[in-house]
Amino acid sequence: MSDERVITGIPGLDDMLHGGLLRNSALLVEGAPGTGKSTLGMQFIYQGATLYDEPGLILTFEMFPRQYYRDAANFGWDLRALEASDKLRIVMSSPEVSRLDLQAVTGQIESIAHQLQARRVLVDSLSHFERLTSDPIELRQIIYEFINGLKRVGLTAVLTRENVALLGETPNMEEDLAFVVDGYLMLRYVELSSAVRRALLVLKLRGSDHAKDIRQFEITSHGLEVRAKFEGQQGIMSGSPVSEPAVAFVQAFARKK
Ligand SMILES: Nc1ncnc2c1ncn2[C@@H]1O[C@H](COP(=O)(O)OP(=O)(O)O)[C@@H](O)[C@H]1O
Ligand SMILES: [Mg+2]
Repeated sequence: MSDERVITGIPGLDDMLHGGLLRNSALLVEGAPGTGKSTLGMQFIYQGATLYDEPGLILTFEMFPRQYYRDAANFGWDLRALEASDKLRIVMSSPEVSRLDLQAVTGQIESIAHQLQARRVLVDSLSHFERLTSDPIELRQIIYEFINGLKRVGLTAVLTRENVALLGETPNMEEDLAFVVDGYLMLRYVELSSAVRRALLVLKLRGSDHAKDIRQFEITSHGLEVRAKFEGQQGIMSGSPVSEPAVAFVQAFARKK
């Protein structure tokens, strides 16, 4: 990692990250289904390719490329055109293949990255690595090596991870994974005044200061936008801001960091 910043281009997020991600680092984006992980990742890739002259890869284990084309088009992002101009490649693979591929001296991921001179990668999602082993320590090691492989190829990575808990709760596994990534972003649904809102928290950013407060974000027809922080609320990340156990959860979580 260097001090150089990779601007995500996501409104509001770069300020929270004090300028962006560190070059050659890996950011884990964790949240329940539908919270916006893939959107955030696609936006990072799209902005990189269109605004910052940084071609990107999308490495997917779950969605077909056409689903990304469709979802991205919804936000006005033409991924097909980017692929046609060699600014993007969507690679559909499996964790087994990708893992071995990055271990090979000249694997497919590396050769595509070189061909495009790619600087960014979205891995969607790490959750699929869980089927490689039931041993959490081995899993952590596999993911650690996989991420190092991406860094060796010169990529700055956004990696998504599904959190099955819809509101709050953070299984130990995820804290485990926090050690192998450089940055950790949590996306949450929050129920406030009978409406469901979206919240975002930067839990960790190695080698850099970052915003510590919990921000609201929205997904609009232009993608993800980070807004103001939640004022006068406690226990936001637990999903139910008023309950006491929720506050205790956030405090317990903050203590460990
Ligand atoms: N044009 C749009 N305007 C507002 N919200 C949208 C739009 N397109 C998709 N969304 C919302 O964005 C979310 C997509 O999330 P996604 O990034 O696929 O989530 P995840 O990858 O975390 O499962 C969904 O909740 C969907 O309702
Ligand atoms: Mg997704």
